[in-house]
Amino acid sequence: MKPWKAVKRLLPLFAGLSLLLSACGREDLSVLRPQGPVAEGQLGLIKLSISIMIVVMLIVFGIAAYVLVKYRRKPGQTEVPKQVEGNFKLEIIWTAIPLVLVLILAVATVQKVFAIGEDYSKDKNAVKIKVTSHQFWWEFTYPDYGITTAQDMVIPTGKKIALELKTADVLHSFWVPSLAGKIDTNTDGTINKAWLEASREGVFLGKCAELCGKSHAFMEFRVKAVSEDSFNKWVDAMKAPVQTIADPEVAEVFKTQCLSCHAVGDQGGPVGPNLTGIGSRETVASILHNSEASGKPVDGKPIKDNLVEWLTDPQKVKPGNKMPNPKEDLGLTDDQIDAIADYLANSKLSY
Ligand code: CUA
Repeated sequence: MKPWKAVKRLLPLFAGLSLLLSACGREDLSVLRPQGPVAEGQLGLIKLSISIMIVVMLIVFGIAAYVLVKYRRKPGQTEVPKQVEGNFKLEIIWTAIPLVLVLILAVATVQKVFAIGEDYSKDKNAVKIKVTSHQFWWEFTYPDYGITTAQDMVIPTGKKIALELKTADVLHSFWVPSLAGKIDTNTDGTINKAWLEASREGVFLGKCAELCGKSHAFMEFRVKAVSEDSFNKWVDAMKAPVQTIADPEVAEVFKTQCLSCHAVGDQGGPVGPNLTGIGSRETVASILHNSEASGKPVDGKPIKDNLVEWLTDPQKVKPGNKMPNPKEDLGLTDDQIDAIADYLANSKLSY
């Protein structure tokens, strides 16, 4: 087969593959469907390197095929071909071409890496969020607004989000495939900075991208991009006084057993995930999907059912997590768990 014929046969394959790849992946979690400038830049780099790779492959395989066909041993040919080596011109050519290719890749990569690593924490128009990773959940603090939340990171669209990332325990890695990432949360106390921006409203899936223990695979979070107006409403709702539990007995149990670690509004502690407005979140514990949630790639269960499931046996849902078992360790009854789940499910924020 002539080399050009091989190219002709391979071309539809590559065209088909690139079509297939560009169409695959969900908008909420795929690197191939970027929803913001950082992820777009990263996809640009992937495209550049894959294009260079395909061109090099086509040329090298084409030449290899051509040589194989043209210079194969002919019938009756017994002598050893003339041995040639050290062709100066060829040596220069195949040293120079890869150098040029590596240079093209290097310039584009360095430029993108610096652009992605830009520190916007001093930018007045940027929204600052401090990200703290825990086994196996994510904490988001908004220092300029004085609020802290967990699991769902709410951001306004079209604004730069300046992230400062650290860990509370082991090494984790922050990754929102369709927006930005990955970036480690270091164990040596240093803080990593990164930024992201969502071009449109939506719920984007985030994951921990560093093996960090038994429930690493369940260490998800969501980035909820909303309009600036909704974001401001969310901030106000997060700061508004919270409803307390009406039943005094359940309220007391909630205060002594739950609020010793968790916070709701201005009450409680910072050890566990902040529960303010948990009724409006996409998930319970990041993996039990709520059917009332706005971004629903999979069907979930009502949030109250998810809360009951979680509170009945947290280790069953997320093995290795640090929450005490409400029944066995804290002595809660099924009725108390049901009442607390009901209260939390109704702790909603309107924004
Ligand atoms: Cu945290 Cu994997």
